[in-house]
Amino acid sequence: MENPFRYGGIVLGPFFADRQDEMIELKKEIRNFSRVFVVSPRRYGKTCLLFNLMESLKIEKTPVAYLDLNAYPDIKSLAGAYALQTCNAIETNRDKLIKILSGLKNFKPQFSVESDGTKISAALIPTIQEKDALTALLESMQYAESLTNRTHKKLVVIIDEFSELPKYNGDTLEKALRSEIQKHQNIAYIFSGSEQSVMLAMLRDRKRAFYKLGRIMELGPIDRKDYKEFILQWLQKGGITVTASDLQRLFELGKDVPYNIQRLCNNMWDLAQRDKMVTSTLIETLPLIIARQDSPHYELFWRSASSLQRKILIALAREPDLKPLSKDFALRYQISPPSSIKASLVSLIKKGIIYQTLEGNYQFTDNFIPYWIDSMVV
Ligand SMILES: Nc1ncnc2c1ncn2[C@@H]1O[C@H](COP(=O)(O)OP(=O)(O)OP(=O)(O)O)[C@@H](O)[C@H]1O
Ligand SMILES: [Mg+2]
Repeated sequence: MENPFRYGGIVLGPFFADRQDEMIELKKEIRNFSRVFVVSPRRYGKTCLLFNLMESLKIEKTPVAYLDLNAYPDIKSLAGAYALQTCNAIETNRDKLIKILSGLKNFKPQFSVESDGTKISAALIPTIQEKDALTALLESMQYAESLTNRTHKKLVVIIDEFSELPKYNGDTLEKALRSEIQKHQNIAYIFSGSEQSVMLAMLRDRKRAFYKLGRIMELGPIDRKDYKEFILQWLQKGGITVTASDLQRLFELGKDVPYNIQRLCNNMWDLAQRDKMVTSTLIETLPLIIARQDSPHYELFWRSASSLQRKILIALAREPDLKPLSKDFALRYQISPPSSIKASLVSLIKKGIIYQTLEGNYQFTDNFIPYWIDSMVV
């Protein structure tokens, strides 16, 4: 039997754990044509949740367009993708779609026959310069709304990695998007983003365009009871025995982050194949096994880190709750001055090694790095 605990990509169907309440909530909001902002720390499962939602919407034949802002370096490419995805979602008939795409003013459609010879794939090339790309983006949004009117269909637009939006050109774009979105009657919008502080600043700051444009749905960890049932059910299918209380430890080791839990379970599954049994000792070995799997990647960044950065990381691995800018920290680890510590912290955040929590603590982005640092520094 294949390992049912998948990680790293989109996890769908029977391999996707729980999130029942969130799915129900999102569907309710969609029915009301609301705008929802899904916010969580990284790797909590926003993208997976959205893809599972899309699967379910497709079964109900609700048109849905998905855009990941990471994929579009400029407004021009975003505009092209926006128009194509929304038109594609609303019109499935090939001939009608070609006609619809040809009706856009600021884009030139290009069609090509796919390698199997049966399907036609389309691309939309904006015909205006990047400096005027906002006009094309607004056209594609208006076009989507007018199509829903004409076809009497509703549409769901999902924009993932929404915290990337300020990278385009900030204020002007944000204001224009807000005023366009507010006019739409037949489109439900879901925006999703991982950089909590950026997302929340966009939504809670009165001066920013997206202030109170919609409801914020903070995606928390998966409920332990439900996640435990999901894990137990798969272990049972694989003929593996485990004590339910031992499984509890997985959530502590993985800090309840779904990506971590999936990774722990994936390794646990492989290790349990021989004896068809999971013991508490086996569970305790998992984080270091995972850290070792990732060590080539860790070594790379470790080599590029300064000695001060290394000292800070060692300290944070040992005492995660200690505040690096406190006197206690400087004394215990013989690190100073605070200005250098601050600079190192900023650089480590930029490199994506640590992040600052909303409470102001510094934590490792990758939960398994501390195990690697600990095993290396004796
Ligand atoms: N409900 C779930 N069931 C099973 N695995 C899950 C679930 N949610 C998340 N995961 C696991 O976590 C990984 C990361 O999930 P996902 O990419 O959806 O997170 P994200 O919040 O979108 O992260 P990012 O903020 O980095 O974009 C997935 O590859 C999967 O292994
Ligand atoms: Mg994601």
